[in-house]
This record gives sequence, structure tokens and C-alpha cells, in this order.
Amino acid sequence: MEPQEFFVPILLGTGRTDRKSAKVAELIRELAGRRGWRAEIFDAGELATRVTHGPKDPVPETAPWRTAAAAADGFIVVAPEYNHGYPAELKIVWDACFAEYRRKPVLTCGVSDGIFGGARFLENFLAVILAVHAVPMANRIYAPQVDKLFGADGQPADAGWVARAEKALDDLGWYLAALKAARGT
Ligand SMILES: Cc1cc2nc3c(=O)[nH]c(=O)nc-3n(C[C@H](O)[C@H](O)[C@H](O)COP(=O)(O)O)c2cc1C
Repeated sequence: MEPQEFFVPILLGTGRTDRKSAKVAELIRELAGRRGWRAEIFDAGELATRVTHGPKDPVPETAPWRTAAAAADGFIVVAPEYNHGYPAELKIVWDACFAEYRRKPVLTCGVSDGIFGGARFLENFLAVILAVHAVPMANRIYAPQVDKLFGADGQPADAGWVARAEKALDDLGWYLAALKAARGT
């Protein structure tokens, strides 16, 4: 398939002060951008409302995400694992849309300072992706021991990790093209 310019919003799923997931999201944005995709980070810390407002009760705070989700060809979610689950602000922003996700691929990336790379929350989030009729990628990006991921120069220190992330993005690229063609949008 020919390279295409896809719009892929990246939802950064935590607003925690000093969050390390932000750096991982930025790296993934860069890798996605190199493919000619329009990859833009959306910050759940800024977008989340105090309580959930669903798509039938739209509020101004989540408008940027709702606009992006409607135009998106697919999504990347980058978030840490908190007590084996996903951050509440991620879910609040995610729940602001429904139809906008339909038949679009979602690649997830879990971040942790321990060895599991968010594996437990990613399993939970799978159900959330399916609930909105989006298409979860079997391939995921795990960012365990996040402090070791970057060297003192701020660049990725693990070429193997980057190669695995590239492979997941390759897969996402296939689904972006296939599903966009099938949706005809
Ligand atoms: C409330 C809270 C709960 C956490 N729970 C987990 C956890 O269940 N599993 C895990 O691997 N790390 C856990 N962590 C540590 C994160 O892996 C760590 O903060 C890491 O830097 C990624 O999150 P960040 O983007 O907030 O920095 C937790 C951190 C916080 C603040």
C-alpha cells in the first residue's frame, strides 16, 4: 500500500505532575510523524472534566478531543498503569465520544517504572476499546522501567525498544489504510 497521510491523535492518558508518560508519548509522536502521519498529542490532564460527560452531554472542555476523534483515522493511547488500572482522566476523556471511534484502529502503549509496562491496565483497556466499536491492535507498545528508556541525552537508549515500537506502528499503518478504505471516509 502507498504511504498515506493519516490523522492519528495520541491521547496522553495522565495529568499527573512529573508524569513520565509524556516523554514516551512525544517519542511515539515523533516515530509516527516520520511516517508522514499527522500525529498530535491530546493531554487528558487538560481535557478531563471533574465528572464524566458522555457524548450526549458535550461540554466545552472536551471539544478539542471530540473534534479530533471525529476527524481521526485511528488512535494511539499512551498511559501509565495506576494500581493495575488506567488513569481516571483517560477514561473521562475517552467517554466523551462514542460514534467517533467506530471502525477505527487503536494502538495502546503502557508506561511503568516497574517491569510490566502497563500490561495489566492494557488488558482492562481492551474492553473499553471494544465497547465503542473501535478496533484494538493485537500489537501493543510496552514501556517498562521508563527511566531506562531514555539516555542522559534524552534520546531513546534502547534500539530494540524503538524497533518494537516501529513494528507496532507498521501494524497500525496497515489497519489505518485498510479500515479507512473499508469505511470509505
Ligand atoms: C497512583 C499511582 C499508582 C501506580 N500504580 C502502578 C501500578 O499499578 N503498576 C506499575 O507498574 N506502576 C504503578 N505506578 C508507578 C508508575 O509506573 C510510574 O509513575 C511511572 O513513572 C509511569 O507513570 P507516570 O506517567 O505518571 O510517570 C503508580 C503510580 C501512581 C502515581
